[in-house]
Amino acid sequence: MDQPNPTPFDIAARRAELERKSRGIGIDEAYISELVDTFYQRVRAHETLGPIFEREIGDDWPPHLAKMKGFWQSLSLYDGSYSGKPVQAHTKLRGVQSQHFDIWLALFRSTLDDTAPSAEAAEYLEGRAQNIAESLKLAMFGSPGLIARAVRIDGDELPLVTRLPESP
Ligand code: HEM
Repeated sequence: MDQPNPTPFDIAARRAELERKSRGIGIDEAYISELVDTFYQRVRAHETLGPIFEREIGDDWPPHLAKMKGFWQSLSLYDGSYSGKPVQAHTKLRGVQSQHFDIWLALFRSTLDDTAPSAEAAEYLEGRAQNIAESLKLAMFGSPGLIARAVRIDGDELPLVTRLPESP
């Protein structure tokens, strides 16, 4: 039987439940702030990623860090503190290649390993990063063998990556 469309009340209740879950594994505003500060310190010091970010962001880091804190809060605490266009922000970048995302993800994972308040928190945040990295890569480089359907993440439409079924 078809499920009725969720009401605004259902959505608010679901967000509250997800927020409680995140807080239960130790994710809060203070941790997101620490994660973002630590991660981008490492990004800036990285021999490959550092120059890409330096070229784009230069000395203007405070607004980028504030935006990224809002982004991760929205993804974990569902507080709506980010609205932006991640696909557009990345498709306009020059010199970024698919393998840079592997480096980004490895650095994000090691930052989580060093800072996360619990193993569950590290796993949750890594999972979100992986999904979004896949979606950004798809938007930037395309990928044979993958199909996309649009999902909304706050203000932006991201293609959600779905693998084609294996052929028999
Ligand atoms: C090699 C990988 C990546 C590179 C080089 C990169 C680089 C950048 C740069 C330079 C900006 C600033 C753009 C601007 O302000 O004009 C940016 C913005 C952003 N990035 Fe990335 N990024 C990468 C991967 C990721 C991943 C995996 C995520 C998510 C998990 C992410 C999330 C964001 C968000 C949310 C913004 C803000 C977009 C907006 O303006 O609303 N990035 N990125």
